[in-house]
Amino acid sequence: MTAKLNVNIDHVATIREARKTIEPSIITAAVICEQAGADGITVHLRGDRRHIQDRDIELLRDVVTTYLNVELAATEEMIEIAVRTKPDAVSLVPESPNEVTTEGGLDVLGNFETIRSAVEKLKAAGIFVSIFIDPDAKQITAAKNAGAQQVELCTAEYAEMTLSSRAAHGEGAQKAAAEVSRIAAAAAHARECGMIVAAGHGLTYRNIAALAAIDDITEFNIGHNIISRSVFVGLSQAVKEMIQACQPSRAN
Ligand code: PXP
Repeated sequence: MTAKLNVNIDHVATIREARKTIEPSIITAAVICEQAGADGITVHLRGDRRHIQDRDIELLRDVVTTYLNVELAATEEMIEIAVRTKPDAVSLVPESPNEVTTEGGLDVLGNFETIRSAVEKLKAAGIFVSIFIDPDAKQITAAKNAGAQQVELCTAEYAEMTLSSRAAHGEGAQKAAAEVSRIAAAAAHARECGMIVAAGHGLTYRNIAALAAIDDITEFNIGHNIISRSVFVGLSQAVKEMIQACQPSRAN
């Protein structure tokens, strides 16, 4: 089965915020992604508002007809915004102020009560809750105990391993294959726990095939690589190419 693709359009807002202006439009981007066949739109409302703004969430809620997934930290401020704007799903993510991008999964075990309480409030508002975690059995079990309906497995380590051409050969290839096995085992464990399994972070047209072959993963959240490619081929084409790349038949 082909996994769903939610396109993360944060970096359309990054370009807009570089000039603090009105273009490129995040709304136009969302519509183009949907028309190109994306199953959903993902955005990350960060505490520092470096790309997506509060108003974007409100506008996207009105415009997105497929599935709106908002990534945010489990803070009171963010939970209040989510409960008010009601995206289809919230993905709880860790956040630290100076990071370039999200660094690894949320430590559910270490912050259990805060996360459990956030999940409870979101679910009470009718929002589907996913937690972004490393592919680790203890964190998966903790996510289940916290009430999450889905986990999103962090693929950052795999992405890092596949960045260089060395990943295609020898030791590099073995390490990447071992990380794929770790992700597959985590996905199987999450499914056994009764949760839906997503994956994301650093995924590209070049490295997605091995993960697309894992049946337990039914959703991908991909942003930077699609938006990067859209600079050269246009957003619609970039999304269509990633939908193709997510077909399991492409795996070797
Ligand atoms: N999933 C989560 C939880 C993320 O925080 C991000 C980055 O915002 C992504 C997926 C998408 O990562 P990328 O932009 O590297 O595709």
